[in-house]
Amino acid sequence: MLDQLQALQATALDEVRAAVDVAALDVVQSAFLGKKGQVQQVLRTIGKLDPKERGPVGRAANEAKQAIEAALEARKAELLAAADANLAETEWVDATLPPPAGSRASGRGGSIHPITALVRDMEDVFLSMGFETLDGPWVEDDHHNFGALNIPPDHPARDMQDTYWLTDGNLLRTHTSPVQVRAMETRKPPIRAVCLGRIFRNEELDATHENTFHQCEGFFVDRDVSVGHMIYVLESLLHEIIGPDVKVRLRPSYFPFVEPGFEMDVTFRGDWMELLGCGMVHPYVLEAGGIDPNEYSGFAFGMGIDRLVMVRHGVEDIRHLMSGDLRFMSQFTGGLEG
Ligand code: DAH
Repeated sequence: MLDQLQALQATALDEVRAAVDVAALDVVQSAFLGKKGQVQQVLRTIGKLDPKERGPVGRAANEAKQAIEAALEARKAELLAAADANLAETEWVDATLPPPAGSRASGRGGSIHPITALVRDMEDVFLSMGFETLDGPWVEDDHHNFGALNIPPDHPARDMQDTYWLTDGNLLRTHTSPVQVRAMETRKPPIRAVCLGRIFRNEELDATHENTFHQCEGFFVDRDVSVGHMIYVLESLLHEIIGPDVKVRLRPSYFPFVEPGFEMDVTFRGDWMELLGCGMVHPYVLEAGGIDPNEYSGFAFGMGIDRLVMVRHGVEDIRHLMSGDLRFMSQFTGGLEG
């Protein structure tokens, strides 16, 4: 009996050493240590032995069991370490390869994010109307995000609740409006520009609030620019983006950087939906940008892009948009041509 146990242990240890992966180790483990395993079978026969032999055989069986367990553990650690070391060899992906044929239809070949798709569509419309597209920094200073836009120090937009302040006194831009100021600083009228980009607000997150979202800012500064020009540009945009039947209306509203200021509503599912803020650029803002308000006037507007995407695709929770979840993303296939 003791010899049999010794032979059994030797075989088990050989098999452990020969196992090439964790799955193979599991097979060895159940063959020797499982409920119906070989060690267990020996232990079951102990009762039939001469009482004098029971002690030594029981001890030997337990020792064999422990030796096999220890060998299994050691080999497992070895295999896992080797797999880790191989990761760079086995898990790499060549992101420059074209997707395999048919992969787009299956949703596995990558696609344009619905925000990017809408941004590109909107930029196309603006470019066709003679606007240029501009970028601005995500990390802004107080002057460009607030001061030059006529937002007084006690304005709620500066509230600690809404703004991500950085330790150096700068902030993450809370809107795309600072790009207006930067454009005026570096250009002379006529200026026709849009900025579609990411903005940040310290929001309580829920289905309609994100802390990272996107805005479209537009502005037009020249001689004799009027509210009529503004309505024409916005209507043209919305007809292209939403559809030719969409109707718009203006309501008086207040934004520190425009005078007069308005909100524009669009028809949506038989009702009016508030869509954007707009107005005539406040003389103070023109001046802060180095432009003479007696000579020039301008209009400006700003709108959220994420809500438009939600309306366009029937997305019910804004948090899906930035989740990076492939189950969400793979619904938007076929947009690679953008
Ligand atoms: N910056 C405003 C916001 O974040 C949106 C806005 C309103 C922009 C009116 C404008 C404007 O240019 O004229 O809510």
